[in-house]
Amino acid sequence: MLHPLPYGAQLHPTTLAFLRDQPKRLWIGGRWVTAAAGRTFDKDDPATGLVFATVCEADAEDVDRAVAAAREIFDNPRHPWRRMTPHDRERLLHRLADLIEADRQTLAQLITLENGKPLTAAEGEVASSVRMFRYYAGWPTKIEGDVKPVSIPDRLNYTLREPVGVVGAIIPWNFPLSMIAWKLAPALAAGNCVILKPAEQTPLTAVRVCELAQEAGFPDGVIQLVIGFGETAGAALTAHPGVDKIAFTGSTEVGKIIMRAAAGNLKRLSLELGGKSPQIILDDADVSKAVIGAAYGIFSNAGQSCNAGARLFVHRRVYDEVMAGLAERAAAIKVGPGLQAGVEMGPLVSREQLARVQGYVAAGLEQGARLRTGGTRPPQAPEGGYFLAPTVFEDVRDDMTIMREEIFGPVLAASPFDSIEEVAARANNTPYGLAAGIWTRDVSKAHRLAGLLRAGTVWVNCYSQFDPASPFGGYKQSGFGREMGHEALELYTQVKSVWIGL
Ligand code: NAI
Ligand code: MG
Repeated sequence: MLHPLPYGAQLHPTTLAFLRDQPKRLWIGGRWVTAAAGRTFDKDDPATGLVFATVCEADAEDVDRAVAAAREIFDNPRHPWRRMTPHDRERLLHRLADLIEADRQTLAQLITLENGKPLTAAEGEVASSVRMFRYYAGWPTKIEGDVKPVSIPDRLNYTLREPVGVVGAIIPWNFPLSMIAWKLAPALAAGNCVILKPAEQTPLTAVRVCELAQEAGFPDGVIQLVIGFGETAGAALTAHPGVDKIAFTGSTEVGKIIMRAAAGNLKRLSLELGGKSPQIILDDADVSKAVIGAAYGIFSNAGQSCNAGARLFVHRRVYDEVMAGLAERAAAIKVGPGLQAGVEMGPLVSREQLARVQGYVAAGLEQGARLRTGGTRPPQAPEGGYFLAPTVFEDVRDDMTIMREEIFGPVLAASPFDSIEEVAARANNTPYGLAAGIWTRDVSKAHRLAGLLRAGTVWVNCYSQFDPASPFGGYKQSGFGREMGHEALELYTQVKSVWIGL
């Protein structure tokens, strides 16, 4: 049964109209369809726990249909999408960017409703996704091959950069729109067909984007949407012989399952996986800026970011000062429903995620870490929602579970250090390598440490900075392949070498 939400009156008329039309359907071959097996599932509001939407649940049969529709396009050299000029692909991407921008209120509200994050953060996500589509709209006219200086007489050799084919994009729930933009924009710029499998926790934003893509005029079947669970719809996509590439963002555990499943037809893979990123505050840092930055690094998105700065190493000389500042900042963060004005941190995405994170808090206490603040439900948070107060553990040992495992919640594990060599070794003592933060005024130390850290991104005197032009991705078990920038085009194209006898 669907429940009216307590803040329904705040929703934009377009959002209400979108929510009235249920169940939300799959988009296959240019048609909005129910699942072949007729199944649906419920979607709840993380701020209240109330079910407010019903969604069609795709299974292997729906995935089969989507793959068949995509193959029909990609394998037909006369199809309009295969013959489309780079300039026209550019125009389609710009049109989609414009439509997303015009729909920003509804998209932001849907992101907040299904994920829980504050509306201001959701608005930021819409704006950055618009920038992502605009950035990649510039690429179709600039994807080039080369003429190679071969040394065989009477031979001309050149390369073509061609699309990979049918791409399965499997994405998580923490940034429902950004994750779509990061994958869709470069894949379409390069001329691929994309089958999108959003996370079961956040299907609504994806439905809305597909409505806008339809309006933008992408040919039927170039973009398709299969909403469903990982073990069924996701697994069917990764194992399907008609899929040429999987672009995945999610847990390292599922990344490994996907890698095995993709072996059947040797799919191309790009994996953006988990992290346990360190933030390092040196003794010469601007402490007040470092405290604000470190708190932002862990508590933004309620800690549910692959790049969350979840381990904090502080030079012993400034440790007490930093910890006092952090505890104060953490306790001052306003936690509540994302649609409530002034809220800085929303609930966790789901009951399961809250239970996982609470399990880590319990493990921290059991293993003797010192709880400085948080760890419980914030007293002012509404009943029924999946809330956890910003949590800081101090004097955490490197072998404790909360220092080792990805928590994916607003939980920081802090520890003091004495030297740069020591902290670099401890920061690198993890199977992950997604990102790292450094706070210092000493330019030599900043560069030295940036070189020592085994991570795909290093932020100095800032954290969580993203731009469509700058590549992002993991070292070690945080995955491989770089999203954004010209680097992402490598993931969605392949090189053909052509020889001509003269
Ligand atoms: P997950 O990795 O299970 O889910 C991510 C996506 O993969 C979803 O679309 C899901 O439906 C799909 N999926 C799940 N199992 C699959 C399978 N066997 N085959 C194909 N697709 C599959 O992550 P989940 O369960 O939502 O969260 C669990 C933990 O994973 C989190 O606590 C966090 O530690 C980590 N995580 C990391 C993310 C990141 O950005 N690095 C994003 C989401 C979760
Ligand atoms: Mg899972």
